[in-house]
Amino acid sequence: MPDVSALSVTHVPGPLLQAPVDLVAFVTYGDPTKDSIFKSADQALGGVLADVAKSESFEGKIGQSITVHTHGRIPARRVVVVGGGVRGEFTNPAVRDLAATVTQAAAKASATTLAFLIPQLGANREAQLLQHVAEGVHLGSYKFGRYLTGDEHKKPPTLRSFGIVTDPAPKAGKKPSATQQKAFTVAVTRGETIAAAINHARDLINEPAAVITPSALAADALAIAKKHKGSVTATILDAKKCAELGMGMFLAVGQGSAQESKFIHLTYKPAKKPKKRIAFIGKGVTFDSGGYSLKPSQSMEDMKVDMSGAAAVISAMDAIATLGADVEVHAVAACCENLVSGQAYKLGDVLTSMDGTTVEINNTDAEGRLTLGDAITYVRTKIQPDEMFDFATLTGACMVALGPYTAGVMSDHEALLKTWMNASERTGEDMWRLPLNGRLREQLKSPIADMRNTGDRFGGAITAGLFLKTFAKDTPWVHVDIAGPASVSSARPSQPKGGTGFAVATIVEYATRR
Ligand code: BES
Ligand code: MN
Ligand code: ZN
Repeated sequence: MPDVSALSVTHVPGPLLQAPVDLVAFVTYGDPTKDSIFKSADQALGGVLADVAKSESFEGKIGQSITVHTHGRIPARRVVVVGGGVRGEFTNPAVRDLAATVTQAAAKASATTLAFLIPQLGANREAQLLQHVAEGVHLGSYKFGRYLTGDEHKKPPTLRSFGIVTDPAPKAGKKPSATQQKAFTVAVTRGETIAAAINHARDLINEPAAVITPSALAADALAIAKKHKGSVTATILDAKKCAELGMGMFLAVGQGSAQESKFIHLTYKPAKKPKKRIAFIGKGVTFDSGGYSLKPSQSMEDMKVDMSGAAAVISAMDAIATLGADVEVHAVAACCENLVSGQAYKLGDVLTSMDGTTVEINNTDAEGRLTLGDAITYVRTKIQPDEMFDFATLTGACMVALGPYTAGVMSDHEALLKTWMNASERTGEDMWRLPLNGRLREQLKSPIADMRNTGDRFGGAITAGLFLKTFAKDTPWVHVDIAGPASVSSARPSQPKGGTGFAVATIVEYATRR
């Protein structure tokens, strides 16, 4: 588990260049020689900064940074300058990356304390900015290093405090007001809480399927309920209980595995009467071999990530309970493994779902929609929420449509979809709508059952969405296909390779700030 508490984000009074820390950092936008902070730092260092910027072709672009020794000219031993691109134009993910870049530069320099002058975007954007900086600090120090045995991986991180300077030129003797201090703490705590939940989801995704089994996910959910005793409760349904409820689709997917399927249900209840009831459903296939419609080895290699939706909804509950919400929140995940064995479900099988719909299986690799269909019926009938959302690494087709970084969002409830997309814009998680075109339903016709589980080649993300819609019925519902962004094969500063924890931020944003 990443020890987020070992590194704290604090307030440091300006001016930046006088801060009594190991390292000072700031952002420049475009040509550094035209930047006033750059100029004053360069002057204090006797012109070294401009020399290094020139020799390292530092042009203040996004992704660039330089580190310079100060040789005792200011209290800090090093100055880090990061490129901010075009002034005032950066997105939330870019802010996270800036903070992550500074954190990583500090780690490289073995600094224990630093002061970072945050971009000056005006008072109305400061809380958001502070939150995203705090997120970037912790997201940027995330590493999944449990299985690396070399000494270099065992060193505890040196950085203890990431100081933020909010005012570059404070009047002498003027301290921030109590309200300003409070606002700072609230924003930073929010960012740290969300980052901890994202990093927790990353751990669950990055752990091998041999470790994160359906039972392990259930244990994780129970631990979150225990941590928030009083506001969060956990119910775990075993396979027998799921059979009693008639979850024929969910249980069929897991029946080829020696790992017992587990149905997880977490509930958060606010102290006051809740304004509404929301349910977040996550796909929890802890390993997807494809079943008898077996995946080729290369496509199977990364299929431990197929529980990323479950990881997101479970981890988000931790942050939601910490931050508090005025709505009742449910997190649900039908967890199982999709394997081949003498017990496994087969092509041609006809399954009966929890709502009675019969489904002919024409592809055992379209298993996610089967597990989710029953989870949706459970949520719709047992929880009866005002709104429900599902998050699933559901289709390769969604990645073909939108690329590897964007989630596909489908819904026929315009108002709910809009509120959700607005929340995603605030967090900077990349999501894009796909049409739930009802005409494609013809692909799901079966001659012997109410439906079959797989359509043909075209519109694969949409036919999966239409399959789920059968079970959502009239309950306001949004489907989010996260097959692409759940994990990445190329890193950015705030997002190393592997599980990303995608959707956690928007789930928390949606539930806690409506
Ligand atoms: N878990 C996969 C989808 C997936 C692919 C997630 C790549 C992450 C990265 C899902 O269960 C699956 O196998 N989908 C099939 C559906 C098809 C059989 C209709 C797919 O996309 O090929
Ligand atoms: Mn599959
Ligand atoms: Zn799958």
